[in-house]
Amino acid sequence: MASAKKIVCLGAGYVGGPTMAVMALNNPDSQFYVTDQNAARIAAWNSAKLPIFEPGLDAIVEKIRDKNLFFRVINPTLLAEADVVFVCVGTPTKDYGEGKGMAADLQYTELAVRDIEKHCKSGTIIVEKSTVPVKTAEAILQIVNAQAGGKRFEVLSNPEFLAEGTAIQDLMNPDRVLIGHAETNAGVAAAETLKAFYTAWVKSERVLLTNVWSSELSKLVANAFLAQRVSSINSISALCEKTNASVREISRAIGHDSRIGPKFIEASVGFGGSCFKKDILNLVYICRQQGLTEVADYWQAVIDMNDYQMRRFVAQIIEMQFNSVAGKKIAILGFAFKPDTNDTRESPAIYVCKRLIEEKAQLFIHDPQALGNAKKDLAGIDSGVTYTLDIDAATEGAHALVILTQWKDYAALDYAKIFQRMQKPAFIFDGRAIVDAEALHTIGFNVAQIGVRAMRN
Ligand code: NAD
Ligand code: UGA
Repeated sequence: MASAKKIVCLGAGYVGGPTMAVMALNNPDSQFYVTDQNAARIAAWNSAKLPIFEPGLDAIVEKIRDKNLFFRVINPTLLAEADVVFVCVGTPTKDYGEGKGMAADLQYTELAVRDIEKHCKSGTIIVEKSTVPVKTAEAILQIVNAQAGGKRFEVLSNPEFLAEGTAIQDLMNPDRVLIGHAETNAGVAAAETLKAFYTAWVKSERVLLTNVWSSELSKLVANAFLAQRVSSINSISALCEKTNASVREISRAIGHDSRIGPKFIEASVGFGGSCFKKDILNLVYICRQQGLTEVADYWQAVIDMNDYQMRRFVAQIIEMQFNSVAGKKIAILGFAFKPDTNDTRESPAIYVCKRLIEEKAQLFIHDPQALGNAKKDLAGIDSGVTYTLDIDAATEGAHALVILTQWKDYAALDYAKIFQRMQKPAFIFDGRAIVDAEALHTIGFNVAQIGVRAMRN
């Protein structure tokens, strides 16, 4: 059990908010301050409508907000009183200078760390929770321990493995918690302090202690392996569409092999999310820096396959629409990068919609949670786009339905009724392989589903 402490988290995003909420729930004697420079984001965390949608999060926040969980704009006094500081700021792909388009942009991490050095007391434990390149903790140590004034800090690596949409259940019951620490007495002591927070609800044997470098690299490798499985099954989906094999049947068949397992082999229009692409690009960049060209090319292929999958999905829509979607009403079902989140970062829907807009289609976009972010993603090019929460309005008179997110409701829509109200011939393009393709073909649809041969009338 951790002794009562004051914890500050820098970054009130998809990781900082849920992670601290669950930690605070399970450590009622400690005080958790989730901070950000973005005052609007903090105001939203303190309001009835939280800035992120995540099942189960509202209930926890409502229960402990202003008891031992606080959302505040970052200020020096909070840092001065902190015993532990979590760094949960963004680490996007660099869009400028050396490593542009590949390396992680660590400017937010460095600014956060310099703030910590300036305002925190000596002995504060710095926990690197953002996903960072291997050796970042070493750089952080160099920065914080090299300043005049003689303060000393310990830096731990504690990468986060939660997935959006299931963040609370992932945090409540993690497969593992990873803590990387310096191999010194002080490093081990800091790791034990952090471990005590987790063992308030996580079994001790699930908390893995490693050296800092292994911890940092494990995070990139975990995301690379997961994305690689999606690209592998997506490559096979293309082959299935040329044959009479069905990718869903293949996933089921290979997933029964206990060495392969059933997870992360669902074919799709492509993986999205803020991290898979960014983290693999970062891995590729590190490999290139180390002169490991073949290794870099191997992982780059995971991203190339994902881009190919999105491109060929759009190409098929256009080809089946008699080579033109200009002026046609197309209903987009789903914009989030996966269900149960409002996050649209790197969502395949962005690419698909942008391409269809270029081809002058009239898009009606439906998503139960992500329309706000969709509007931001398509700002400036969306004069022909209608955003709606009404499925009937989205689908009425449409030439085609395009499923881009596997929201549960989309599998169970009344497609016979929708078909009646659509232009004929009516088409459905299922980028998530969630509908019963045969049944829809029987209703009268032309069906193009990822991973099965297109069914044309
Ligand atoms: P996010 O963009 O949602 O949140 C980051 C927040 O940090 C922003 O609100 C920003 O204003 C704030 N910030 C930036 N600099 C700051 C500073 N100096 N002080 C205080 N706040 C500051 O990002 P996210 O999705 O929460 O991701 C954060 C990190 O966690 C990334 O490295 C990401 O790779 C990693 N990660 C994300 C997920 C996920 O599901 N989103 C899962 C695991 C790991
Ligand atoms: C992913 C990892 O699963 C988390 O462990 C990690 O912490 C996180 O990235 C991160 O570092 O940010 P997340 O991106 O939130 O989590 O969601 P996933 O469930 O991994 O899905 C990613 C994308 O892959 C989604 O677009 C999803 O639709 C797609 N996917 C996933 C498939 O197309 N097929 C699958 O079988 C699984």
